[in-house]
Amino acid sequence: MKLFVDTAEIAEIRAAAAWGIIDGVTTNPTLIARSGRPFREVIDDIRTLIDGDISAEVISTDTAGMVEEAREIATWGSNVVVKVPLTEEGIAAVAQVSKRGIRTNVTLCFSVGQALMAAKAGATYVSPFIGRLDEIGVDGVGLIADIVEMYSNYGFKTQVLAASIRHPLHVQQVALAGAHVATCPFKVLQQCFRHPLTDKGLATFLEDHRKAQAVPVPAE
Ligand code: E4P
Repeated sequence: MKLFVDTAEIAEIRAAAAWGIIDGVTTNPTLIARSGRPFREVIDDIRTLIDGDISAEVISTDTAGMVEEAREIATWGSNVVVKVPLTEEGIAAVAQVSKRGIRTNVTLCFSVGQALMAAKAGATYVSPFIGRLDEIGVDGVGLIADIVEMYSNYGFKTQVLAASIRHPLHVQQVALAGAHVATCPFKVLQQCFRHPLTDKGLATFLEDHRKAQAVPVPAE
């Protein structure tokens, strides 16, 4: 499973890139607004840090507007993927730009039926938002498993990108459910490294090493 970081904060992306395990970045208009910086500038900066796919979202809501934005965003770099909302207009835009070789991430997916539309349109990725589903009492991880199964039934090439991840358990669960990608807030990625027994075990190893160094070597 690929791991993306879900942020537009350059400091977080730089720190995550240093781990050497990050495969890409997702942004959305909320994250870009939170960064307080111009959209293009943020994407250009991310490209200096990450070789993998970077999702950049359109803000038009009509098909023609989304197609125009997609064509522009796709010129920003070969690893820039155009994020398009899962609406009738958005799917029509994805169907058009996919035929021209533009890669897309269909976002705001909340059902298997919607994921089917994204795959039919030739989307590169579909992004089911699992945290937002859990928050309204619907099983987000279950949706990931169902979409993975449905895509596998028909050999769809669209990759399932689990989004709206809230905690490390989500990461484990979507990995077991067969998601191709999980996009995670920086904090959740940091949490994935941690285990109290790792900290405790390391402290013991270091203490034992220190004690062993302190023991005088007997003279022959
Ligand atoms: C995915 O690409 C989105 O940016 C993101 O996961 C949205 O999740 P949220 O529910 O935390 O806003």
